[in-house]
Amino acid sequence: MKNVNIKPAEITDAALLRDIHIDALKTCSNDYPEEIITVLTDQKRLTFEGYYKYINNNEIFKCVIDNDIAGWIHFNKENMEIQGLFIKSGLQRRGFGKKLVHYILEKYKGKKIILDSTITAHKFYKKMGFKIICNRLLIRNDVKIPVFYMEMDIETNK
Ligand SMILES: CC(C)(COP(=O)(O)OP(=O)(O)OC[C@H]1O[C@@H](n2cnc3c(N)ncnc32)[C@H](O)[C@@H]1OP(=O)(O)O)[C@@H](O)C(=O)NCCC(=O)NCCS
Repeated sequence: MKNVNIKPAEITDAALLRDIHIDALKTCSNDYPEEIITVLTDQKRLTFEGYYKYINNNEIFKCVIDNDIAGWIHFNKENMEIQGLFIKSGLQRRGFGKKLVHYILEKYKGKKIILDSTITAHKFYKKMGFKIICNRLLIRNDVKIPVFYMEMDIETNK
């Protein structure tokens, strides 16, 4: 059995985090048109400065298998929001996303955690105990992206 650990991301991880980000989002292409995938994976939008900022704020946690990063989660503790969760395409459905979400739920027990889920991920988040509150449209580069706004029930995350 390989060694799986959740650790804070480091500055030197930024390029790999971005690669995983883009790779994972491409797996949403069954649920979103190409125009949306193009905006979401636009390298001009996903700047290294952005990753550096979140890493320095201690908002990104990576799931490490031996020495390889399987995926990562971005959690903003100011508004208790999961802002992103991305698992490498070849490593999805092996429990790594669940491990990252459980890490956050465990750390912030009893808090109302919120998120905007892709259409692709909403069944996964339902399994993690989140419920859909409403549909929303995020606007990125003037393109409307439908998502589900979801919340973790405080009673569930005790
Ligand atoms: C969504 C995502 C983060 C899930 O991570 P993952 O590692 O593939 O999921 P896990 O293997 O941890 O799945 C945990 C459980 O959810 C279920 N699940 C995962 N994806 C699912 C899906 N698309 N539909 C239904 N169930 C799903 C699994 O079967 C598993 O169930 P179990 O606990 O009963 O065995 C990952 O697939 C991903 O990166 N997707 C693309 C990017 C994306 O949309 N990210 C969300 C941004 S908000």
